[in-house]
Amino acid sequence: MSNAQQIKSIVRSIDPVGDYFHIVFDAPTIAEHVEPGHFVAVAVGGTGSGMLLRRAFSIHNATAGDSIEVIVAPHGQGTQWLTAVSAGQEVDIIAPLGKPFLLPNRPVGCVLVAGGYGAAPMGMLARELRARGCEVEVILGAATQGKLFGVLEMTRDADNVTVTTDDGSSGLRGRVTDALPDAIARINGQAVYACGPMPMLQAVAEMSKAHGAFSQTAVEESMACGIGVCMTCVLPVIGDDGITRMVRSCVEGPCFRGDRVRWNDVHTVPADALGAPVVGGH
Ligand SMILES: Cc1cc2nc3c(=O)[nH]c(=O)nc-3n(C[C@H](O)[C@H](O)[C@H](O)COP(=O)(O)OP(=O)(O)OC[C@H]3O[C@@H](n4cnc5c(N)ncnc54)[C@H](O)[C@@H]3O)c2cc1C
Ligand code: FES
Repeated sequence: MSNAQQIKSIVRSIDPVGDYFHIVFDAPTIAEHVEPGHFVAVAVGGTGSGMLLRRAFSIHNATAGDSIEVIVAPHGQGTQWLTAVSAGQEVDIIAPLGKPFLLPNRPVGCVLVAGGYGAAPMGMLARELRARGCEVEVILGAATQGKLFGVLEMTRDADNVTVTTDDGSSGLRGRVTDALPDAIARINGQAVYACGPMPMLQAVAEMSKAHGAFSQTAVEESMACGIGVCMTCVLPVIGDDGITRMVRSCVEGPCFRGDRVRWNDVHTVPADALGAPVVGGH
């Protein structure tokens, strides 16, 4: 059952971190229900705003009985409004939403891979995995140094951290996937967790499978309602029965088995998906 609640939250603090903003929301009744991979849907623009659609953000941190935290990249109108809020301001939020990452039930090697602000949920995940006795390798990547997030935090929360940037401004020059095979080999990785842009997720899922590891990917599909009503966020996912269904990433995701998402068919309804329109049919 969903524990999601809609509350008028007070912004406790907002601080720049690299190219992002770290925002802490008062959320005493929400925080205890948050698991790694959950997200929050934030109303933007204030009361009377024309921006009707909520914006989704991974929950970076949750302190029981107290607050939840997000990392926001100023992007379009909504995120620009949000990154200009002040401490003390009231913001309408709904959380925790979505299905969190599946956690292993025995201690196994886990590799966490994140691109840019995709690192937001990974600290909480790393702590949870280590509490279960898992060895945790982290790979953080971004186009450039300013877009890296969480390097310091991860050094505390993981057994080993590898940083990659496309331009070589920090860590290894290259992509997260360049570092993935070694990371899997180092700890005999059985599970790979990924959050970041869709092409990165696809590459990580395919590489994990090729190395015999189970992958969990947190997808970032455009969302409108965030609560399962509008079908904006659907993507084709293969079920346990082998049948492809168009599933809502806001309620059945955002965390999916990487080998079950039909990455090459995202943003389409494959002809063999359950309920797909029949060409020439009525
Ligand atoms: C589950 C999930 C977790 C996310 N976590 C983070 C995070 O931790 N930090 C962060 O900075 N961003 C995150 N995003 C992306 C963030 O939701 C979008 O950048 C934001 O909605 C863009 O809004 P905007 O008004 O600035 O941009 P606009 O382009 O003006 O938005 C227009 C509309 O398109 C939708 N939209 C546009 N781009 C995206 C996108 N990339 N993903 C989803 N919807 C989009 C918005 O919901 C909005 O309704 C996440 C998205 C999802 C789905
Ligand atoms: S965003 Fe509306 S159903 Fe997922």
